[in-house]
Amino acid sequence: MRVLLVGAGGREHAIAEALAEGAELYVIGKHRNPGISRIAKEYGLAKETDVEKVLEFALKWGVDMAFIGPEAPLEKGIVNVLEENGIPTVGPSKEAAMLETNKAFARWLMDKYKIPGRKLFRVFEDISEMKAWVDDFGKPVVVKPLGLTGGKGVKVVGYQLKDNEEAKAYAEELIKKDGKVLIEERTDGVEFTFQVFTDGKKVLLMPLAQDYPHAYEGDVGPITGGMGSYSCEDHLLPFITKKDYDKALEALKATIDAMRKEGTPYKGILYGQFMLAKDEPKIIEFNARFGDPEAMNVLPILKTSLVEIGEGIVDGNLKGAEFERKATVVKYIAPKGYPTNPVKGVRLQVDEDRIREEGAKVYYASLDENFTMLGSRALAVVGVADSLEEAERIASAGIKHVSGEIFYRRDVGTKESIAKRIELVRAMRGE
Ligand code: GLY
Repeated sequence: MRVLLVGAGGREHAIAEALAEGAELYVIGKHRNPGISRIAKEYGLAKETDVEKVLEFALKWGVDMAFIGPEAPLEKGIVNVLEENGIPTVGPSKEAAMLETNKAFARWLMDKYKIPGRKLFRVFEDISEMKAWVDDFGKPVVVKPLGLTGGKGVKVVGYQLKDNEEAKAYAEELIKKDGKVLIEERTDGVEFTFQVFTDGKKVLLMPLAQDYPHAYEGDVGPITGGMGSYSCEDHLLPFITKKDYDKALEALKATIDAMRKEGTPYKGILYGQFMLAKDEPKIIEFNARFGDPEAMNVLPILKTSLVEIGEGIVDGNLKGAEFERKATVVKYIAPKGYPTNPVKGVRLQVDEDRIREEGAKVYYASLDENFTMLGSRALAVVGVADSLEEAERIASAGIKHVSGEIFYRRDVGTKESIAKRIELVRAMRGE
């Protein structure tokens, strides 16, 4: 069986490794990821959003199935095009991917189907209407561009925005640029990631994970794609109750049901980004693909073949997905200055043997075949173990064998940083 993977980041390296266990791997990425390159039979260089080029490679290689890693090609309708050309593809159609690519659509759907965890929101095209609503609302808001921004467009009052005055100014800027803006009530709490596989009907659960989006230790600094993440051996998170978990799952299932009722069934991986708020988990947003880094938490402990899961997704007969009862810690290494002003074109030294001797895994990302950094997160070191403490220790030991003009967050998955999150939830809930 020949499987095509589209994408070449850290997430895709983890997908590639899992797919290569059950199929011959063909890859298209915009750079040659040194880790993926080693396990791929063929590797085509192309922009992942260049759907025609991807199709050309896919037909030339005669692939039996395709798997889409990142969101940008989904927005371009890559799944529609590949499937129209007879290539079953894991990932949502352009219409279904709107859950991620159009934030106003996602909020509208949640309201229409009364999906649990929905938030108060408005979409504005008119600047004075927007300003009057924000003034009238009075409470802190979140301002979001409607489309994809690589995690960099969302601004929250109290974080990237000082107050609602700054929120109005930013929202005005977005209306002038995009014609529209989405404004939501701000929700406080602790964020977590809930990923599921779905064939449009059946839903298979993955372990929960928690991402560290801030650039620097102590959860400060600019928002990034994610500087690391962890998951626990019981597949839950220490601050989540059974009730919270069930509520979040109910929201994901209700969303998948709603998409089917809308005539745009959702198949692939659905990623719910939740904020555990005082009363219940609130949906911050959906992603139409694996998380990056969260794919590196769940895929190394997936016992079921990812190729079989992919076949179940495209055939509409998903069966099961089993994960090892292990904890995982992912620490991403980024070039100095990331995300605002990253160094580029500088080589890294990676002692893979020593990393492996420490028991850690390595996944390459924004790095070329000469180990030259390309400007985004460069590689991730992952610890997998029976306990979170041990997984963190392994990741920390492994990461010491990478050197160059880099930085990473030492606190990802540490006892102290998790205790802080548990405490936050306790205080918020008055426990
Ligand atoms: N870790 C956040 C994301 O994948 O969007």
